[in-house]
Amino acid sequence: MKFSRKYDKIRTMNKDIVCIGAGYIGGPTMAVIAQKNPSRKVYVVDINEKRIAAWNSDNLPIYEPGLKEVVEEVRNRNLFFTTDIEGCIKKCDIIFVGVNTPTKMFGRGAGRASDLQYWEATARNISKWAEGDKIVVEKSTLPVRTAAAMDAILNIHEKHRFTVLSNPEFLAEGTAIKDLQTPDRVLIGGPQTPEGEAAVKTVVDIYAGEGDKWVPREKILTTNVWSAELTKLAANAFLAQRVSSINAIAGLCEATGADVDEVARVIGADKRIGPKFLKAGPGFGGSCFKKDVLNLVYLCETFGLHTAAEYWSQVIKMNDHQQERIVSRLFKETFNTLANKKIAMFGFAFKADTGDTRETPAGYVARLLNEEHVNLVITDPKALENAKKDLAGLTGIEYVECPYEATKEADAILLMTDWKEYPQLDWAKLYASMRKPALVFDTRNCLDAKALKALGFKVLNIGK
Ligand code: NAD
Ligand code: UGA
Repeated sequence: MKFSRKYDKIRTMNKDIVCIGAGYIGGPTMAVIAQKNPSRKVYVVDINEKRIAAWNSDNLPIYEPGLKEVVEEVRNRNLFFTTDIEGCIKKCDIIFVGVNTPTKMFGRGAGRASDLQYWEATARNISKWAEGDKIVVEKSTLPVRTAAAMDAILNIHEKHRFTVLSNPEFLAEGTAIKDLQTPDRVLIGGPQTPEGEAAVKTVVDIYAGEGDKWVPREKILTTNVWSAELTKLAANAFLAQRVSSINAIAGLCEATGADVDEVARVIGADKRIGPKFLKAGPGFGGSCFKKDVLNLVYLCETFGLHTAAEYWSQVIKMNDHQQERIVSRLFKETFNTLANKKIAMFGFAFKADTGDTRETPAGYVARLLNEEHVNLVITDPKALENAKKDLAGLTGIEYVECPYEATKEADAILLMTDWKEYPQLDWAKLYASMRKPALVFDTRNCLDAKALKALGFKVLNIGK
């Protein structure tokens, strides 16, 4: 095969990698890429100096099981955290972009579209500072067809050739390291041109790992760029839709005497459906589900697909409704008055094993309870600092590390996050310290309701 000039250039590029954006995605992903590719230098850069300093310290900026061990193994061996964005763009030929793409809160598309200002600033920096041809890999979750805009900005000066790929990330928080080390699949979308195919192969090799010891090649799926961009939004929308579907069934279970965990177990035994993402609860949180479904809604509307937009909107509506339902039930079960009652909220993180509180259902519920003048005491093993920041400005909320301390004289415990430590607590001791009647609302169905009832608690569950 005769290679084009551009293809030859890609083959002779250096192997070093920079990721722009040292967040939940950039940090863990690059740590594992460095671990599995020891002869490549991997740089993670950010405009946030504090974050970079934290990555270089013993106190990493995010909590993920197993992350500290991987970072300690590779940091300053072949993984480097730095604020020298310009220098790294110059010296690395493979550039991952993992900056934040939150929901836009102003102007056109407010409340639905992605805010692409951080992403565009990055593209302009790459275009300004690059001194040779580069492969630019979208790691952030982006609206479908963003690569076309990226391509237009990057290639504005026609100085160097930039090949834009889409490599969305599917890791979940709390299991990030495990998901990265043994992913179900890796997705790489690229232009169907000789240089596009060569760039895709370069990134496939990174994920295969040195000596093909990382992701089995049959699990590295390649598509065109638009399919890759859209797949990420669709995958999150499908997962979010399953959570909303089971939560919609949960309400019906409460009304009819059915048990949502039993219903989910039997539905999930059907191989065509599968058992995962069928756990009823307080609704989904996290930085991405809501933002990505809203983005999908916006895209559908932009392309005139109004019925499809309405369909996906319902996933979000159902999720908000679930959190409102929690407060309504609590209200009803506390004699229709919550004012001045003390409620201990167990868990503020959007799921267990993370300190992340972005879009956490606990945040929305805390605000609703605050409107009812509840004396709210929040406890969480990892997310208390973020909780304080999220709820800054609200009065009447206490933040207490010890769950026993948080519960003293409380009227109710409202369990919002399924931390493993909560079922292990001494519930007799908690009961003894509470005002009676003592209520537990387990929105994750993770406690032993029968045992709690035997202790004297009134117990509420989701979908039971
Ligand atoms: P994050 O906010 O934790 O991190 C983004 C980082 O980018 C920040 O540290 C910010 O300072 C930095 N940044 C912004 N503009 C910059 C610039 N011009 N130059 C250098 N750095 C800049 O966000 P995140 O959770 O890591 O998410 C990043 C992207 O990955 C989003 O698009 C998100 O949808 C996607 N994603 C996230 C997850 C997850 O689990 N959090 C999973 C899959 C995909
Ligand atoms: C999710 C996806 O699972 C990842 O594949 C994706 O990469 C990521 O979003 C992203 O794009 O950011 P994450 O939000 O970290 O990952 O965590 P999940 O495990 O998906 O949980 C999301 C929310 O749904 C949590 O609040 C969780 O408690 C809730 N959930 C999940 C349920 O209520 N029931 C379930 O059965 C599963």
